Amino acid sequence: MSVQDQIKQHLKNLDALLVAHYYQRDEVLELADLSGDSLELAKKASLSPHSLIVFCGVAFMGQSVKVLAPQKRVIMPKVACCSMAKMIDDEYFDRSIDTLNQAGIKKEDIFPITYINSNASVKAKVGKMGGVVCTSSNASKIFDYALQTNKKIFFLPDRCLGLNLARKNNLKSCVLGQASKEEIVDSAVICYDGFCSVHQLFTTKDIAFFRQRYKDILIITHPECDPSVVAQSDFVGSTSQIIEFVKNLDPNQAVAVGTEFNLVNRLRSGSKNTFVLSSTIPQCPTMNETTLQDVLLVLESFTQNKSDLFKSMNEIIIPSDVAKYAKIALDRMLELSK
Ligand code: 13P
Ligand code: SF4
Repeated sequence: MSVQDQIKQHLKNLDALLVAHYYQRDEVLELADLSGDSLELAKKASLSPHSLIVFCGVAFMGQSVKVLAPQKRVIMPKVACCSMAKMIDDEYFDRSIDTLNQAGIKKEDIFPITYINSNASVKAKVGKMGGVVCTSSNASKIFDYALQTNKKIFFLPDRCLGLNLARKNNLKSCVLGQASKEEIVDSAVICYDGFCSVHQLFTTKDIAFFRQRYKDILIITHPECDPSVVAQSDFVGSTSQIIEFVKNLDPNQAVAVGTEFNLVNRLRSGSKNTFVLSSTIPQCPTMNETTLQDVLLVLESFTQNKSDLFKSMNEIIIPSDVAKYAKIALDRMLELSK
């Protein structure tokens, strides 16, 4: 039996749902029951009738499903860690709040928004402070809500998304660690200094190159790109929004897309006018860790009940107090993005 057929057989026997983010390898995405951007996957996987979720993506994505649907078992063929999510933990979160306090901003005057690309423990800190989670597809809505509170927004961990949102709303912003006390006090939006190493690869030089070569080309980027790149883009959106936008264009329209390679490569396969907005291959190493063989292995281990090793390696387990407060921040996001 082929690897694909063995996986299908295990999924059927276990009544499990195979979930894959758009950045996964083609071989994994082709087999998935459910694919999408991070918001769609969190929502749809947690609401699915399946009690076992096999999540192919990065750790914070599997965690979000577990937090939203604690009754489900969530296993990941590779518990790969998004490098941006790794840039902040609860200690760094506390230290950031201390820095804001030292600048004269009281805790009760801070509204924290954490990008979904963060660990459950950071989401829990944000939930405890009355803040909320956002993703690239609902960030504007969440930001609008935060503005109504008249508090200072502390946006984490992605400085680019935070700065892009501030710019869109004509708000003063700064980056913690780079800004002076005065600048912090003066800013409506204070961003943590995290970033996505993959989306940093796209530059305004790349945009200039494509605009010079192809007269009417459209530049399409993800909001994790640097503000200078986003400012020069014709369309900015989440992974799903990018796919939808390109799908609805005239097939002859030239586009250069600034997001992860696997997604852009799929878009490219149907069109000779679709380009990767980079001279290098912008591949997310952690998203690419999961192979079909890993999916099969995790299903075999689960079936054979290799419990101790398996639980520590592949199953998402979240301490109950962390899960409780992380759920508050995630539920608030789902409510606000309806
Ligand atoms: P989406 O929310 O657009 O799926 O993005 C997730 C991500 O990690 C982008 O780098
Ligand atoms: Fe994280 Fe960037 Fe990979 Fe997205 S592309 S999962 S933000 S490292």
